[in-house]
Amino acid sequence: MNFRRLGRSGLRISEIAYGNWLTHGSQVEEDAALACVAAALDAGITTFDTADVYAGTRAETVLGKALAGVPRDSYELFTKVYWPTGEGANDRGLSRKHIMASCEASLRRLGTDHVDLYQAHRYDYETPLVETLRAFDDLLRQGKALYIGVSEWKASEIAEALSLADELGFDRLVSNQPQYNLLWRVIEDEVVPLCEREGVGQIVFSPIAQGVLTGKYPPGQPPPAGSRGTDTKGGADMISRWLSDDVLTRVQQLSPLAEQAGLSMAQLAVAWVLQNSNVSAAIVGASRPEQVHDNVQAAGITLDADLLTAIDEALGDSVERDPAKTQSPNPRP
Ligand SMILES: NC(=O)c1ccc[n+]([C@@H]2O[C@H](COP(=O)([O-])OP(=O)(O)OC[C@H]3O[C@@H](n4cnc5c(N)ncnc54)[C@H](OP(=O)(O)O)[C@@H]3O)[C@@H](O)[C@H]2O)c1
Repeated sequence: MNFRRLGRSGLRISEIAYGNWLTHGSQVEEDAALACVAAALDAGITTFDTADVYAGTRAETVLGKALAGVPRDSYELFTKVYWPTGEGANDRGLSRKHIMASCEASLRRLGTDHVDLYQAHRYDYETPLVETLRAFDDLLRQGKALYIGVSEWKASEIAEALSLADELGFDRLVSNQPQYNLLWRVIEDEVVPLCEREGVGQIVFSPIAQGVLTGKYPPGQPPPAGSRGTDTKGGADMISRWLSDDVLTRVQQLSPLAEQAGLSMAQLAVAWVLQNSNVSAAIVGASRPEQVHDNVQAAGITLDADLLTAIDEALGDSVERDPAKTQSPNPRP
């Protein structure tokens, strides 16, 4: 495993991280979840990402159980706050009240007294930014979080948070967690240049486009049994955006390119996001340990310029690059 700095902070994280959205507490049984975390640890992954909202809060409980007994200093635990975790008017968003309550609940479920990174899961258009940043800074002073970050914020929103933190003497954001993969490159024009200048690292999600970039969804055929494409608990809805015949046909053209490079398609996809030096880690998901074993082998791979060009030619206009596609819900849910 290779390690990278989380933005300009002193924290080192594994360049391949493991995340448990849609899987733990939902699509996969607990023994498979525990086996995936064990496989990740065996493969040298030290960085784990979850969120209060995943599987209606069950995902944090499963991850806490999977990491119980592992020395706390030997791994980095990331979680998030923003999406609704209950029916109440304050069970959501980035108000001081919800941040404090949600962080306590996350720590309880995860079985720890601190998380290494606490992230705003989206931008909250209903809470003054200074209220959110002061609450985050208080969590840092209390030792409940060691670093703070955001997820899917626009460049202008990240810039505003950095300048407010500087003005008020708060610790700065060290990371952003955007979607980034071969098919979804919307951070490249605005978010990445700003973050490179400001020392904010990207911890990118869905690097394999939820499994689509493995090539296991051939065009014109039903999704393979047991895949996210068949997961009626939420996965099938989430992945459906990628399952058009045009995208799937183009993805199939990556297969010979991966083969020539001596990589599986999943490894090619993960290695591709790691070529971007502003990326601190690629957060992969997995529903079974063999996938973890496959994906971690992308660590440390360099893709040559000819291969990068051939990939772009194969994918053509199925690649989304519009920076306006970085969005948080407005109004807030
Ligand atoms: N901040 C945010 O808003 C946000 C949003 C989404 C995700 N995330 C984070 O990013 C993490 C990863 O997201 P993701 O799960 O969408 O990532 P992904 O790595 O693109 O997709 C993971 C899924 O692809 C399939 N897969 C993975 N490796 C495979 C392999 N080698 N061969 C065949 N199939 C393979 C598995 O699904 P099946 O086996 O079921 O097909 C697996 O669950 C999440 O867990 C979460 O921590 C954050």
